[in-house]
Amino acid sequence: MNIAAIYSFIHSLWAIPAFVFPHTVRLSTSVSQFEVHQLPNSSSLPVSWAGRLPVPETPPGNSLFFWLFQAEDPAYDENLIIWFNGGPGCSSLIGLTTGNGPVSFDGNSTRLIRNPHSWTKLGNVLYVDQPVGTGYSTASNPYPVPDNDRVTSDFYKWLRNFFILFPNLRSKRVHMIGESWAGIYIPYFASAIVEGQDLFPIDLRSISIGDGTIGNPAAMSTVTIGKFMRSQKDTLQIPNEIRSVFTEVEAICGFDEILKAANQYPPNGKIHIPGHPENRNYKRHDPTNTTCNIHPTTPDMVKTSILNSTCYGPCATFATAFDYMSTVSASGAGKQCHDIYDTHNDCNTIDPLDLLAAYFSRADVQVALNLLPAAEESLNSHNSAPPTTFSPCNSTILDKLLTSTPPVAPAYSILPHLVTSHNISLHIYSGEHDMLVNHFGTELCLQNMTWNGAQGFSQKPSRLFFADNAVPSHFLLHSCEKENSTETCDSAAGLWASERGVTYHLFWGAGHSVFGKKPREMFAYVRDVVVAG
Ligand SMILES: *[C@@H]1O[C@H](CO)[C@@H](O)[C@H](O)[C@H]1NC(C)=O
Ligand SMILES: *[C@@H]1O[C@H](CO)[C@@H](O)[C@H](O)[C@H]1NC(C)=O
Ligand SMILES: *[C@@H]1O[C@H](CO)[C@@H](O)[C@H](O)[C@H]1NC(C)=O
Ligand SMILES: *[C@@H]1O[C@H](CO)[C@@H](O)[C@H](O)[C@H]1NC(C)=O
Ligand SMILES: *[C@@H]1O[C@H](CO)[C@@H](O)[C@H](O)[C@H]1NC(C)=O
Ligand SMILES: *[C@@H]1O[C@H](CO)[C@@H](O)[C@H](O)[C@H]1NC(C)=O
Ligand SMILES: *[C@@H]1O[C@H](CO)[C@@H](O)[C@H](O)[C@H]1NC(C)=O
Ligand SMILES: *[C@@H]1O[C@H](CO)[C@@H](O)[C@H](O)[C@H]1NC(C)=O
Repeated sequence: MNIAAIYSFIHSLWAIPAFVFPHTVRLSTSVSQFEVHQLPNSSSLPVSWAGRLPVPETPPGNSLFFWLFQAEDPAYDENLIIWFNGGPGCSSLIGLTTGNGPVSFDGNSTRLIRNPHSWTKLGNVLYVDQPVGTGYSTASNPYPVPDNDRVTSDFYKWLRNFFILFPNLRSKRVHMIGESWAGIYIPYFASAIVEGQDLFPIDLRSISIGDGTIGNPAAMSTVTIGKFMRSQKDTLQIPNEIRSVFTEVEAICGFDEILKAANQYPPNGKIHIPGHPENRNYKRHDPTNTTCNIHPTTPDMVKTSILNSTCYGPCATFATAFDYMSTVSASGAGKQCHDIYDTHNDCNTIDPLDLLAAYFSRADVQVALNLLPAAEESLNSHNSAPPTTFSPCNSTILDKLLTSTPPVAPAYSILPHLVTSHNISLHIYSGEHDMLVNHFGTELCLQNMTWNGAQGFSQKPSRLFFADNAVPSHFLLHSCEKENSTETCDSAAGLWASERGVTYHLFWGAGHSVFGKKPREMFAYVRDVVVAG
């Protein structure tokens, strides 16, 4: 059967109101076209379906790739977890193969082995490559997505189509989870789902965002990077005199007052960023523009780069920290193989993106995922399309969306509205060692956020959680400090807080992608999220 025919069938179906034309019966057989039977060089998989589905109401050529796994444990079959990587422009197959999916790369090889902490044990799990053009997803030319509004409407339209193809999933409890730039995607997608609820009901229960860009960009980077560097001074190997510069400019830029305000539990009111915080304090680092990076290595150069850069704008602490670390790392004068995603990574850390690029560019893998016809079919049809070159992250899409008008920070109103008016559980988490989206910035944005009648948390996150229990009853950090390292305290995974429908977890020992270093802890976290929601 020709898959294009199914596509156009779904397309035309979309134009017809559901009550006129009961689709469940007609579509159920077509799902078999998406079955994944086996995967090359891989352990066996749970039952799964993969392929591309078009984005309705867009020009031909715009499709999103999905890979849906059936719940492995019937006790959790009521859940549908949807995972998003960020970028923007990074494939969700990154999360799938690096620690949250059923198979992971075996060390530095392109063999896939079973992951004992797969989220498929906690529900049906859907991976989507979006926006169009990301990963295996295709886009029309010229690139049709100018901004985040289009990202949102494309995904939402696509998702409704997806539910029409898999009607048995319509009744599931939906949990959206993602990291990094998904801190923007997920709140906007959740908003579209709740706004469309009357016309197309979806049982959205919770959203979880890790190391996510939920708040004011200056707050999340510029304002808090100095505090982060102090907290990681030994790992980052930053000399005292360089750290002093960051402390000094914090006072000049007024960041010290913000950090103080962020440390008030409960907060004293909205936290103001001096200057023009939505842009002037925050100029994105452009690595291609060598006039911006003065390759600072001395305290004077660092200070000049922060305060007097001709292109970063005033108070450029984040861009300067980035330039300083890469300069001293490259010259051998500082920490070797510095990795902004995880300060504890070193030269032995495996880069999974190379593995993804190699594995998912293979023709046999693309045949298995229903993206290419099998060899004998293609011989018969004289159709021998070459495999797609797979890029885990697409820089065209990244540039396009980062340089477009930035969406309003979700923490200002979208997240509060979802929690307060729609009773969606909101779970925010951070990896302690992530320097790209550091946890102090996330904590600052949460203290500045108002939901369910009050601003921020009333108490500093200081309850301990454990490897296999992400929401234990009260167990305070300071009781461990007093008891001096009991066995219980040694097994702690991090700190957390939960108030008025919002939880925050800080995972110790993790980087930007928490499950990469802490798969077991993250599994327990996701289990608690789906059980609670
Ligand atoms: C993948 O499988 C093929 C045979 O199917 C084998 O020749 C090849 O060595 C395998 N590659 C890896 C990385 O295991
Ligand atoms: C990235 O996406 C754009 C737009 O769809 C496409 O033209 C380009 O080939 C992609 N780049 C890579 C490296 O995949
Ligand atoms: C706090 O939120 C307000 C909007 O409600 C915003 O203008 C301000 O920049 C935010 N401050 C921080 C530190 O995020
Ligand atoms: C920044 O520029 C001003 C004016 O040109 C100068 O007085 C100051 O010393 C410079 N500061 C640094 C840290 O380079
Ligand atoms: C680099 O930045 C400088 C200062 O903002 C600007 O004048 C110049 O045009 C930029 N160069 C490029 C190639 O973007
Ligand atoms: C992984 O393999 C690649 C290609 O063989 C190699 O360049 C890289 O150094 C390896 N990484 C590690 C951490 O061993
Ligand atoms: C804490 O424990 C360590 C070793 O377990 C011990 O050396 C130290 O004296 C203890 N401190 C207190 C205050 O009990
Ligand atoms: C909100 O959601 C929670 C957890 O899903 C549920 O227990 C509670 O009854 C809901 N509250 C309202 C007002 O719907």
